[in-house]
Amino acid sequence: MDYYLGIDLGTSSLKIVLADNQGRILGNSSSSFSIISEKEDYSEENPTDWLRAFDHAFSEILEKYPQIKENIVSISFSGQMHSLVMIDEKGNPIRPAILWNDVRTTEQVKQLKNDILPHLLSIEKNFPLEGFTLPKILWMMENEPENWQKVWKFMMPKDYLIYYLTDKVCTDYSDASGTIMYDVRKHQWDEEILKRFDIRLDQCPELLYSTDSAGVPTEQIKEKFNLTKNFAVIMGGADNACGALGTIDNIEEQGLISVGTSGVVLTYSNDSMNQVGKYHYFNSLIEGQDYKMGVTLSAGYSLDWFKTRFAPGEDFETLTKKAGESSIGSKGILFLPYLFGERSPYFNAKMSAEFVGMKAYHNDGDLIRSVLEGVAFSLKNVYQTMRDLSNKQVQKFRITGGVVKNPLWLQMFADIFNSPIEVLAIDEGPAFGALICAIHASTGQLPSEIWKKYNQVKKIYTPEKEAIEEYEVYYQKFKQLSDKMDASL
Ligand code: XUL
Repeated sequence: MDYYLGIDLGTSSLKIVLADNQGRILGNSSSSFSIISEKEDYSEENPTDWLRAFDHAFSEILEKYPQIKENIVSISFSGQMHSLVMIDEKGNPIRPAILWNDVRTTEQVKQLKNDILPHLLSIEKNFPLEGFTLPKILWMMENEPENWQKVWKFMMPKDYLIYYLTDKVCTDYSDASGTIMYDVRKHQWDEEILKRFDIRLDQCPELLYSTDSAGVPTEQIKEKFNLTKNFAVIMGGADNACGALGTIDNIEEQGLISVGTSGVVLTYSNDSMNQVGKYHYFNSLIEGQDYKMGVTLSAGYSLDWFKTRFAPGEDFETLTKKAGESSIGSKGILFLPYLFGERSPYFNAKMSAEFVGMKAYHNDGDLIRSVLEGVAFSLKNVYQTMRDLSNKQVQKFRITGGVVKNPLWLQMFADIFNSPIEVLAIDEGPAFGALICAIHASTGQLPSEIWKKYNQVKKIYTPEKEAIEEYEVYYQKFKQLSDKMDASL
């Protein structure tokens, strides 16, 4: 039997999914690590913690499934996007990685907007944002020049795992897109940007397709895990691109909604016109195919926040039951979920969260429901903006993340988006996308065929006519209030 692994290096944990060649997902393992936040706006992680997490989860998989040891054909990777890892000539990280949700770079973003916005919109196809990699590099040059001097190579998190396993420094097009120093049309590092900011081409990782092999494990790695045979280490891609590959099997018809800590709406599209920067535009894992994406920074986090602050003793089932006892529109309360400011469609870090319309008769169920509705309204606002700017409308959405455990919230998404919402049998998110990369690279089967062999739709939530109309009224109010807040800050 042949075996394949999909590995997702997320922001709080590393997860490995194991599959055989018969269409079966056999199991998974994971290991967590912590964000270091020493100052307001700072968010860092130690790349060596990721290696420890890999060692732990990989050893666990090998112990649980001893039969795979000599029969792994290929493994591939998904990883948190944009985060900056820098290594010296000996391959050691120079400092902790600066993560995608670190926003210390406002000054550098201002500089990019003032100096080269038209270039970024035309070549990188993105508006500069604090989270992206280039502003982080500029911050390093200005604030830690002694550290930047030592940089032999920079890369993104999953690339560092690949370097650990193979000794090769490379990245793929989907992760390169998120640096905003990469030409998304020509699939090359943008030499004009490199020259302007004095970044050497040889400091950039080599660019590969997501299904290219980066190499095989080094002798050291084989010894460490007691392996005698080689397997292919396949590049993989950015976590949202892998999430799309692992969720969507028809790129014309389906879009992706992901509700984890943050929320994402993603559709495949090669239409980069009207790039006014209201959404992100990146290369996908499929050759010649791009995607559009918008992010609500506080999605699942809004519900976690409410529970931690106001209902620490209650579980999510009880909270959802109470929300179900309220009614559409939460009896007049609207929640604007901008606990971390907002990324899309407002690029506005100053926005803040609000409960609007509270009266003495409201109860906790109304508040909880307004949180669930507010997150769905916010993601609809993201999608609406993407759609208005490109005219592309998908016929249905596939949904993934913590939300799949909450039927009330899933029905809300169907009614608010006025679209069928499909929940999958295998909800392994980006790790499943990485797995598809590994299998595709080794067998040549098409990603959509692999998807169908291993996964299927488990349940469809269908929009209900009356609910659609009722929610639309509240959505319009939500949008008005949000637009007004954005304009005033
Ligand atoms: C996308 C983004 C996040 C990270 C999370 O632009 O910043 O979704 O990829 O891992």
